[in-house]
Amino acid sequence: MDSIVNSLKLNPTNQSCQLAKSPLRTLGHSALLQAFTSLAERENIFSSMQPILQNKDLIVSEVVGVRWYHFSEFMPWFLTRMASLASTNRKRAAICQIAYEELGEGNPDKIHANEFIDALSISVDIKSEKFQSARESCFPNELKFLSRALEGKDISDPLLFGISLGLEIVAIENIETLFEGVCYDEVLREKLGRTEFFIIHRQNEEEHIRHTTNGFINHVHTDQDEQDFMHGFYLSLKFWKQFWNNTAELCKSRR
Ligand SMILES: [Fe+2]
Repeated sequence: MDSIVNSLKLNPTNQSCQLAKSPLRTLGHSALLQAFTSLAERENIFSSMQPILQNKDLIVSEVVGVRWYHFSEFMPWFLTRMASLASTNRKRAAICQIAYEELGEGNPDKIHANEFIDALSISVDIKSEKFQSARESCFPNELKFLSRALEGKDISDPLLFGISLGLEIVAIENIETLFEGVCYDEVLREKLGRTEFFIIHRQNEEEHIRHTTNGFINHVHTDQDEQDFMHGFYLSLKFWKQFWNNTAELCKSRR
């Protein structure tokens, strides 16, 4: 597997990818998933949060909580916007599946962003003035970076599927980093671990990663498709790196 991953000449800094050959397209689902996981691990997306999580407090909970809430609010809009740009309804349906879950699968009371704020209210006083001001000052501007990715003229289906996989590939680490960030003592760990939000996300993330890996198998057939897909994949990884780096910086500066 490492030899396959190494044979990809990747340049994450400009989100482009030059392929010496096309080893990824020869892989089955589980090997492909492993290859994308290895590529994501190389970006060290969570390294800046590790020292923050060694020394947690209410400020870390507020910053992490606010930033995740904004992300969670944004994601259904972003996914449905991506779906609107896909070329067929079949592709649109694949992209919409996760948006449908995020929006409560037909039940507006189960919208994930709202379930998250319910869970967060256990560890943070979400009605306090301090939290309300953090909602504005800790807004993740990286979301604008993602939005801009959909503004160009060259939006291909593989690019959209690459963005989808890049957003999901680190989903398990995301949820565990979020959980650690918002729980600053053992009592909170127990209480938040029992909330609908964390129970559902700990169950679903693996399936989301499997589902978005199918985007590569089903919609990447040529070298150009693969380049577009990898461009989208790295664009999302860059978003996550910025999201967690900036979260860590805000935690440090507000202490
Ligand atoms: Fe969710």
